[in-house]
Amino acid sequence: MSDHPKGKRLFGRSQGKALSGRQQRAVDESLPHLSWPDEGPVDPKALLPDYDHHVLEIGFGGAEHLIGQAARARETGFIGIEPFLNGVAKALTGIEDHGLTNVRVKREDARDEMVRMPDAAFDQIYLLFPDPWPKSRHAKRRFVQTETVHELARLLKPGGRLRVATDVRSYADHAFPLLEAHRELTWTGKQASDWRDNPADHIVTRYQTKQLGDIAPVFMDFVKA
Ligand SMILES: C[S@@+](CC[C@H](N)C(=O)[O-])C[C@H]1O[C@@H](n2cnc3c(N)ncnc32)[C@H](O)[C@@H]1O
Repeated sequence: MSDHPKGKRLFGRSQGKALSGRQQRAVDESLPHLSWPDEGPVDPKALLPDYDHHVLEIGFGGAEHLIGQAARARETGFIGIEPFLNGVAKALTGIEDHGLTNVRVKREDARDEMVRMPDAAFDQIYLLFPDPWPKSRHAKRRFVQTETVHELARLLKPGGRLRVATDVRSYADHAFPLLEAHRELTWTGKQASDWRDNPADHIVTRYQTKQLGDIAPVFMDFVKA
């Protein structure tokens, strides 16, 4: 099923087409320095000690948003977690291209990394266009579940923000009630443009432009009490 480092079953692909020579070199040489060990606690402040603010992006795909945000906010530390090797390789070459020193990357299932992280670690968490798993019999595979919502809320600082985006109606219908039900998360949407329009700080990814879903993208922004 996967060539995942821990041999675990991942939902979705963990590697696609062959890496370019440059990407393979980045994976071999840069990733060990920009990542962290597979065991033990993971503290974003220790990984990026020169930064007061830390951002987590879960499932960054082709890394356009991760790299774009990190290039825009070089005074903020960014952590990206993505199991798909080709996406990780794109993040690494993006880090090189932009000369970024404020990004750390892990090739892993984000659920396994989140539980290793301390409370109130992040100012912002992004979960953009998670794999939709639209069939109801696959609903348990969706990233947003009661347990992951609990972890997302736990990892946010008070006043920290969570953005979940999807272009699949069944995912929005599944995720929104679970997110809104968390007592520490408050939805910030007030008018339709707040969830229907790309947020002002958003960076559109290649995946988003493909418009593979069945609705226009919705952006669900929450703030932690
Ligand atoms: C539909 S793509 C969207 C990629 C990107 N967020 C974007 O908007 O362009 C979903 C991504 O989530 C990743 N993913 C799936 N399950 C994950 C998990 N448990 N932890 C971290 N990433 C995951 C997939 O490998 C894939 O790259």
